[in-house]
Amino acid sequence: SLSAGASSHNKDITNVAHRGASGHAPEHTITAYKMGEQMHGDYIEIDLQMTKDGQLIAMHDETLDRTTNGTGEVKDHTLAEIKQLDAGSWFNEKYPEMAKPEYAGLKVPTLDEVFQTFGKNANYYIETKSPEVYPGMEQALLDKINQYGINKDTLLVQSFSAESLIKMHDLDPSVNLVQLMWYTSPAALSDAEITAVKQYAMGIGPNSSMIDKEYVQKAVNSGLEIHPYTVNEKEEMQKLIDWGVTGIFTNFPDRLNEVLKGK
Ligand code: G3P
Ligand code: CA
Repeated sequence: SLSAGASSHNKDITNVAHRGASGHAPEHTITAYKMGEQMHGDYIEIDLQMTKDGQLIAMHDETLDRTTNGTGEVKDHTLAEIKQLDAGSWFNEKYPEMAKPEYAGLKVPTLDEVFQTFGKNANYYIETKSPEVYPGMEQALLDKINQYGINKDTLLVQSFSAESLIKMHDLDPSVNLVQLMWYTSPAALSDAEITAVKQYAMGIGPNSSMIDKEYVQKAVNSGLEIHPYTVNEKEEMQKLIDWGVTGIFTNFPDRLNEVLKGK
């Protein structure tokens, strides 16, 4: 029956485990990514940074300070140095109610390790972070995608940088792309922006707090996917679903799964 309202199309919403199930475990660790899968996330979201020796690693910040016991810029450290670091204890200290002894000492994963762990048919949603800091990042990512034979049907590459996405598109037009947006005031989507984005991307990812129903419907009616970030409360998830979003980034894929099941 359609009387349950939004539930009639709930099944089509893409559940993106943002930095893994990062509400439950230290972001961008293999543990958090595994929990994302277990909690019914459809995609593992991975932010990329590049080490001094050119290795792609999963980390949100350009600096080591927040999510490891190291300090300084990623680009000034080799992979071997970064592999010495503890990428889990900070979480136990910051979120004592979610802390687990096994999080202490978790390592920063390389993109190689993520692909080796989850395989070619997992759904990866990979962000080129600070591409202006890391020349060659797009080619390096594409090399890994090809090296591991990652299934491009379910791969998404995202960035705030249109330049980075256009570079990816030029290198390999078969990689599906999502343009991230960051708004600091109530957002509107112009026809010109839609036309420009559709030249290379199949979707957009705006911050959820500045968009409204009109914004969402305009994106959807233009044929774009729309995946707002980062949505952690069930009421906001349901509101966005009712507006017609096609996916949601969340630190709590378990909560989104409950909303999608009408719980
Ligand atoms: O990639 C979507 C969302 O993650 C963008 O924000 O800062 O969490 O990478 P950020
Ligand atoms: Ca991201």
